[in-house]
Amino acid sequence: MSPHTSPQATVDEVRVSDGVTRVALIGTGAMGADHAERIARRCGGAGLAGVCDADAEVARVTAGRVGGCRVESDPFALIGADDVDGVVIATPGSTHEELLLACLERDVPVLCEKPLTPDAESSHRVVRAEAALGRRRIQVGFMRRFDPQYEQLKRTLDAGTLGVPVMLHCAHRAASAAAWFSQRTLISDGVVHEFDVTRWLLGQEIVAVSVFRPEGSHDPADERPTPQFVLFEMSGSVLVDVEVFISAGFGYQVRCEAVCADGTMTIGDNSGPVVQHRGRWGGEVTQDYRPRFGQAYDREVQAWVNSVRTGTCVGPSAWDGYAAAAAADAGTQAQVTGARVEVRIAERPSLYT
Ligand SMILES: NC(=O)c1ccc[n+]([C@@H]2O[C@H](COP(=O)([O-])OP(=O)(O)OC[C@H]3O[C@@H](n4cnc5c(N)ncnc54)[C@H](O)[C@@H]3O)[C@@H](O)[C@H]2O)c1
Repeated sequence: MSPHTSPQATVDEVRVSDGVTRVALIGTGAMGADHAERIARRCGGAGLAGVCDADAEVARVTAGRVGGCRVESDPFALIGADDVDGVVIATPGSTHEELLLACLERDVPVLCEKPLTPDAESSHRVVRAEAALGRRRIQVGFMRRFDPQYEQLKRTLDAGTLGVPVMLHCAHRAASAAAWFSQRTLISDGVVHEFDVTRWLLGQEIVAVSVFRPEGSHDPADERPTPQFVLFEMSGSVLVDVEVFISAGFGYQVRCEAVCADGTMTIGDNSGPVVQHRGRWGGEVTQDYRPRFGQAYDREVQAWVNSVRTGTCVGPSAWDGYAAAAAADAGTQAQVTGARVEVRIAERPSLYT
């Protein structure tokens, strides 16, 4: 599947009817526990065979909550188990490479949370291993491609109704950052979503990245992320700006305004119910990524489960993960040097064309 093709058709057309895809889940922290519920309770034709976490108690809590699956202490034993049809990886990015390589070695389909890996060099090793295997086995968890609002934006841009896209203004805000977020992971784990989704929306590659920080907003010795402004130059001349602010306090907000020659389209504003009461009006702001993208995660995982059954991998590929990691490398370099950094990309193997 082309990286710029919507996965919608696959999600809707392939509904599982016979048997159950038995899933091994590695990592049962915030994202993994959420995926456990979805695989066990909401996905058609899927069930959890086993879970594993470096913290055994965390794995036991998840297994106890969903029921019907075993706890395994060794992730590699789970990847190779006879009763496992596919693997979901929801551990931190730094652990993904060896888990992915084990899945490829055993030819097991895998849905790996973003980022594919934390940098382009390790992502390229994964791409090379999959290319050597000769078939796609990896879907990367860039779930925005499965979000109905992003899909609508892509359909509109593809249809050309608004004319040629010239700019995207994006905001990526969270109420508070997980403790492990640093200046670097702000780009490699946070803005990586925008690196992927802009390539997909526009059908263009990222050519160069610049990063700006408001003067006086940071102490160089302090590794905690401060609000930043990331600018991407795309191969088709579109400019993309991303405000990334993950200690925004008020809630979680991912918005994108596409500015085209004949009009604009905005997605991601909180536009739920508006309440008017005692002389005031207002609504709720989503508090984290799970409610905002819940439908996207459900559709992403369902598409993956279905693809395990059909044997045809869908959605964002290892190549997309690598391309996003290459842009993230440029971004983290730009963050440190203050310079505009060009994105360096290797030749694309034929598996991904
Ligand atoms: N798609 C999204 O929107 C989204 C949102 C949040 C997190 N994520 C991604 O999901 C992944 C996990 O993030 P999180 O927020 O759940 O982190 P987390 O810290 O809450 O959970 C990670 C879990 O992995 C476990 N772990 C660490 N190394 C392990 C190993 N080698 N084997 C087994 N278990 C191991 C930890 O004990 C922990 O329980 C990251 O890659 C993150 O970027 C994606």
